[in-house]
Amino acid sequence: MAKQQLLMLGIRASFHTLSAVLVAGVIFTTVFLSRKVLPKEHPQSDGAPNVEDGRDCNLFEGKWVFDNESNPIYKEEECKLMSDQLACEKFGRQDSSYKFWRWQPHTCNLPRFNATKLLESLRNKRMVYVGDSLNRGQWVSIVCMASSVIKNPKLMHMHNNGSNLISFKSLEYNATIDFYWAPLLVESNSDDPTNHRLPERIVRIQSIERHARHWTESDIIVLNSYLWWRMPHIKTLWGSFETLNGTYKEVEMVRVYEMALQTLSQWLEVHVNSNRTKLFFMSMSPTHERAEEWGGKTNQNCYGETSLIDKEGYNGRGSDPKMMRVVENVLDGLKRRGLNMHMINITQLSEYRKDGHPSIYRKQWEQLKEDQVLDPSSYSDCIHWCLPGVPDVWNHLLYAYIVDNHHST
Ligand SMILES: *[C@@H]1O[C@H](CO)[C@@H](O)[C@H](O)[C@H]1NC(C)=O
Ligand SMILES: *[C@@H]1O[C@H](CO)[C@@H](O)[C@H](O)[C@H]1NC(C)=O
Ligand SMILES: *[C@@H]1O[C@H](CO)[C@@H](O)[C@H](O)[C@H]1NC(C)=O
Ligand SMILES: *[C@@H]1O[C@H](CO)[C@@H](O)[C@H](O)[C@H]1NC(C)=O
Ligand SMILES: *[C@@H]1O[C@H](CO)[C@@H](O)[C@H](O)[C@H]1NC(C)=O
Ligand SMILES: *[C@@H]1O[C@H](CO)[C@@H](O)[C@H](O)[C@H]1NC(C)=O
Ligand SMILES: *[C@@H]1O[C@H](CO)[C@@H](O)[C@H](O)[C@H]1NC(C)=O
Repeated sequence: MAKQQLLMLGIRASFHTLSAVLVAGVIFTTVFLSRKVLPKEHPQSDGAPNVEDGRDCNLFEGKWVFDNESNPIYKEEECKLMSDQLACEKFGRQDSSYKFWRWQPHTCNLPRFNATKLLESLRNKRMVYVGDSLNRGQWVSIVCMASSVIKNPKLMHMHNNGSNLISFKSLEYNATIDFYWAPLLVESNSDDPTNHRLPERIVRIQSIERHARHWTESDIIVLNSYLWWRMPHIKTLWGSFETLNGTYKEVEMVRVYEMALQTLSQWLEVHVNSNRTKLFFMSMSPTHERAEEWGGKTNQNCYGETSLIDKEGYNGRGSDPKMMRVVENVLDGLKRRGLNMHMINITQLSEYRKDGHPSIYRKQWEQLKEDQVLDPSSYSDCIHWCLPGVPDVWNHLLYAYIVDNHHST
């Protein structure tokens, strides 16, 4: 746990460099294209039922297929917004097969990913990812995917002033894709985008307004929150951080998680215009911290893994089914009250990908100690995901909902 927390808490804003990259040019693009209905895409013809028949098929049951023709969608070194936390090749990863897998649902095909179509469907819209560093990684992924078809760098704009909000914009399409840092969604003492390395976590489970007002008015909202909750009990605060008379209480985590998601869902119910806004919740991103779970050596983790787990239905202990149930229940409740939030169920498909994590191939924020250098698994990151890689597939699933109008889970 200590190692896991260190890794998670050690995530500094790795985007400082980014702000320097992009030019905020004043550009007068006269784009008067209307939001026309996109033509239906022809399904891939490789045997499986086509996506038009399968618009309500379960996209999350399937298998990984090695496909170095259509993957990766972008090159690591060509994505100007790549984060040093995820750029595995840049930090020495030699094997490359982790970039080449595509997800194949059992009963239908995913629509072919087309970054231009994505940008077209985001024209004059704002999409925002809200959550923790896994969600930020997914945001980097979609920005890399989208910018891969933007040839003129002057037509993209990046804004990062060190606040919770990082913003990417395609000027040609007037399409904004933002990331908002709120690792527990509700307010907590880990809300600072850079300094969230704190000895004790405190959550204000009833308060979300301070964050949510920055993203409620969006067309697409993609939320996640999981790993930061993983401890048996959480200190909760009723009252505010600023006043000294708040009430603190240690509460069992699953219960607190539920209360926090209720706060979120109440906020959404009151403030979100369901005619405008599409809501998504990313399910738990699994970790690969214990190799013995998949038949590897004890005291090892994802370090050195280059192949997939091929046991159908494999589940590691890094995923908490109780928390998954909580999310389902909260989403069911929202739906009964007329607000549809889709869960993008990435847990199972990502479980197979023990090869997909950066392990030692990422920027280290702190100088490694001698004993760490001798034992690479001791400082391996088995939580986040290399890019290009697994989060591209998460976004491809989102794409099926956003662009291709897939509508069931
Ligand atoms: C997520 O998908 C997996 C694989 O299809 C399935 O076993 C699991 O029940 C799903 N979970 C939820 C909450 O839908
Ligand atoms: C894809 O992989 C196969 C087998 O590893 C290899 O023969 C082929 O050259 C690769 N194609 C591309 C485009 O990299
Ligand atoms: C991607 O979509 C754009 C816009 O809809 C279209 O012009 C282009 O042909 C598509 N590319 C491919 C490879 O299908
Ligand atoms: C640009 O997009 C934003 C949403 O991000 C929207 O509010 C605004 O009206 C759009 N501008 C134009 C000129 O359509
Ligand atoms: C940073 O940018 C956001 C909007 O993108 C703005 O609301 C905020 O005031 C800015 N913060 C600082 C410190 O400039
Ligand atoms: C807590 O303290 C603040 C000022 O510090 C005061 O305005 C507020 O009424 C107090 N609340 C309670 C419940 O005592
Ligand atoms: C959403 O659209 C429906 C039908 O067009 C309309 O009756 C309803 O008032 C709208 N709701 C909101 C919140 O705008």
